[in-house]
Amino acid sequence: MKMIRTLPIALAAIMATLPVPLHAFSQHQVVLGLPPPPGKPSYLPVANSTRSFWFTDPDVVPGPNEGSEGPLTDDADICIIGSGITGVSAAYHLAHALVGNEEVVSGIGRPVKAVILEAREFCSGATGRNGGHITAHQFAHFRQIEKERGVDEALRTLAIEFYTVDELTRILAENGKEDYVDLTRGGRLMLMFSEEELAEEKADYEAAKKAGAQMGDVQWLSKEEVWKTYGAPYPGVLIPGNNLWPLKAVSVLFQLANKTSSRFSVDLHTQTPVTSVTSIPHANANSDIPFLRRHVVNTPRGSVSCSYVLHATNGYAAHLLPHLAGPDGIVPTRGQVMTVRAAVKIDELSTVGGTGNEGFEYWFPRPTKSEAGETPLVVVGGGREVAKGFEIYEVDDSVVNEDVGKALRDFLPIVFPEKYDRDTDPEMEWTGIMGYTQSGDPFVGPVVDSKQISAESNEFDGQFVSAGYTGHGMPRAFACAQVVADMIMADIQRKPFQIPEWFPKSYLTRELPLTQ
Ligand SMILES: Cc1cc2nc3c(=O)[nH]c(=O)nc-3n(C[C@H](O)[C@H](O)[C@H](O)COP(=O)(O)OP(=O)(O)OC[C@H]3O[C@@H](n4cnc5c(N)ncnc54)[C@H](O)[C@@H]3O)c2cc1C
Ligand SMILES: *[C@@H]1O[C@H](CO)[C@@H](O)[C@H](O)[C@H]1NC(C)=O
Ligand SMILES: *[C@@H]1O[C@H](CO)[C@@H](O)[C@H](O)[C@H]1NC(C)=O
Repeated sequence: MKMIRTLPIALAAIMATLPVPLHAFSQHQVVLGLPPPPGKPSYLPVANSTRSFWFTDPDVVPGPNEGSEGPLTDDADICIIGSGITGVSAAYHLAHALVGNEEVVSGIGRPVKAVILEAREFCSGATGRNGGHITAHQFAHFRQIEKERGVDEALRTLAIEFYTVDELTRILAENGKEDYVDLTRGGRLMLMFSEEELAEEKADYEAAKKAGAQMGDVQWLSKEEVWKTYGAPYPGVLIPGNNLWPLKAVSVLFQLANKTSSRFSVDLHTQTPVTSVTSIPHANANSDIPFLRRHVVNTPRGSVSCSYVLHATNGYAAHLLPHLAGPDGIVPTRGQVMTVRAAVKIDELSTVGGTGNEGFEYWFPRPTKSEAGETPLVVVGGGREVAKGFEIYEVDDSVVNEDVGKALRDFLPIVFPEKYDRDTDPEMEWTGIMGYTQSGDPFVGPVVDSKQISAESNEFDGQFVSAGYTGHGMPRAFACAQVVADMIMADIQRKPFQIPEWFPKSYLTRELPLTQ
C-alpha cells in the first residue's frame, strides 16, 4: 500500500501533465454548431453495441429481449418509441395520471393502452450505458442563462433538476429499491484544473445564490484540503450528488408503470426498431371520437396504429423527425466509459464521485464492502476533448475510440496519483450515444416543424418529443417525461396544459429556422 503524504509541501510538483486539453468547452461549442459531415449520420441504433457494465446483472426485469418474439401489439392509444429513462418515465407518469381520473377511461370503457417500442435490448441506449450520476447542477452556467433568458428561467433550469433528483430518490426509497439500484448519496467533487475555471464557477455560484436559488450544501475546498481528504492536488467544490445503477432504476420505473393503475396497461417490444411514422388521414380531424387513431408506426415486425406518439429516442430522434437533424436540432454525440479498480480501499478513496475539466470527465466508486478486502470498481467516463471532432455525429456504439480510451486510462492515476495505479487495465470499456443541443436544453412538447405550418392538416398532430439532454439526462428526463405525459393527458381530456413552476419554458419545443 502506498503512503499518503499529509503535508502539501510540494503540491505543484505532484501536478503531472493532464491527459486532456483544458478549456475545450468553447471549441466544443464551435464544432457542435457545424453542419454534419457529408453522408453522416444514420440515426438508427447499430445492432451490435459494446457491452456496458450495467448489463452484467442477468436478473433485471424486464429482460433485455422482452417482447422481441411472437405477435406485435398492433394497436395502442399511445406509442412510446424508446425504452430509456424518458420513454419508461412517460409510461410511469401516464399510469399515475390515470389514478383518480376515471372519466378518461369511462369514455372508452377499457384501460388506456400504451406500447413501448425499442430498437435493441430494453434500455440499451444512453441510459443503459451512461456514467450513473444523478446529480442536480447547483449553479452551472447560471450567469449565461440569466443574461440570455432572465432570472426566472435561470432558476427554473436549476429547479427541474432538484425536482427530478428528489422525485426519483423518493420513489426508490418508498418502494424499498435504494439498495437494489445501489443508490449512493456520496456527493460530487468538482475539480478545477485552472484558476480561470475556478473563478468562473465561483461567479456562477455567487450569482445563483444572489438570485435566491435553492442551495444544497456547497463547500469550496482549497488545493490543500482536496489533497488531504481526496488525494488530488487541485482546488474544488463539493456539492450534493448521487449515483446509481441506471438500468435497474429504469426497470423499477417500468414495473411501477405496469402495476400502478388497472386503468393503464403497457406492453414492451424490444428488438423492434421504428422505421417510419405515417399519418392516417381523417375527414374530420377534430372529431371527438376518443382516441381516434391518427398514426401508423412502422417496424420490420409489422405496424402499430395509435392516437399519440412519443419520440423518446434522444440522440437518434432525427431518424423519424428529420427536421431535428443538424446543429439546430439534436446532434448525436458518442460518449465513452470504463470501469477500473482503484489501488486503495473505499475508506481511503471515499464514496464521493467527481467531475473535472469543465465536466468533460466524470467518475464515481461503486459501493464496495471494505471487509470483503476488495478495492472499489470505479466508473469513469469522458475524454472526448482529445478526439478531433469531439465524437460529434458519431452514432456507432459498437466500437470505442482508442485515443479517448487512452486519455481515460491515464486520467484518474494522474489526477489522484496515490489512489490509482497507472498499470491497472480497465475491466470493461464501452460507448453510448448522447443527444446534444447547442443551447444544452432538451426539446420537450408537441412535435413542431415550421415547414408544416401552412399545411392544411398537421401530420404531427398527436406526436410529442422529449429528447436532447446534452449528456445530462438523469436529473432532467424523468421530469421532462412528466411534462409530455401531462400534455398528452390534457389533450385527451381537452383541458389546457399548465406548465409546472419547476419547468423551464425554454425547453418547450421550438420552431427551427426555415433555412433547414
Ligand atoms: C457514455 C454516456 C455517459 C453518460 N453519463 C451520464 C451521467 O453520468 N449522468 C447523466 O445525467 N447523464 C449521463 N449521460 C446522458 C444520459 O444517459 C441521457 O441523457 C439519458 O439516458 C437519456 O435518456 P433517454 O431515455 O432520453 O435516451 P436513451 O436512453 O438513449 O433511450 C432512447 C432509446 O430509444 C431507442 N431508439 C432510438 N431510435 C429508435 C427507433 N427508431 N425505434 C425504436 N427505438 C429507438 C434507443 O435504442 C434507446 O434505447 C450519459 C450518456 C452516455 C452515452
Ligand atoms: C456493427 O454494425 C455496424 C453496422 O450496423 C458496422 O458498421 C460495424 O462495423 C459493426 N461493428 C463491429 C464491431 O462489428
Ligand atoms: C405487466 O404486468 C402484467 C400483469 O401483471 C404481466 O402479465 C406482464 O408480464 C407485465 N409486462 C411486462 C413487460 O413485464
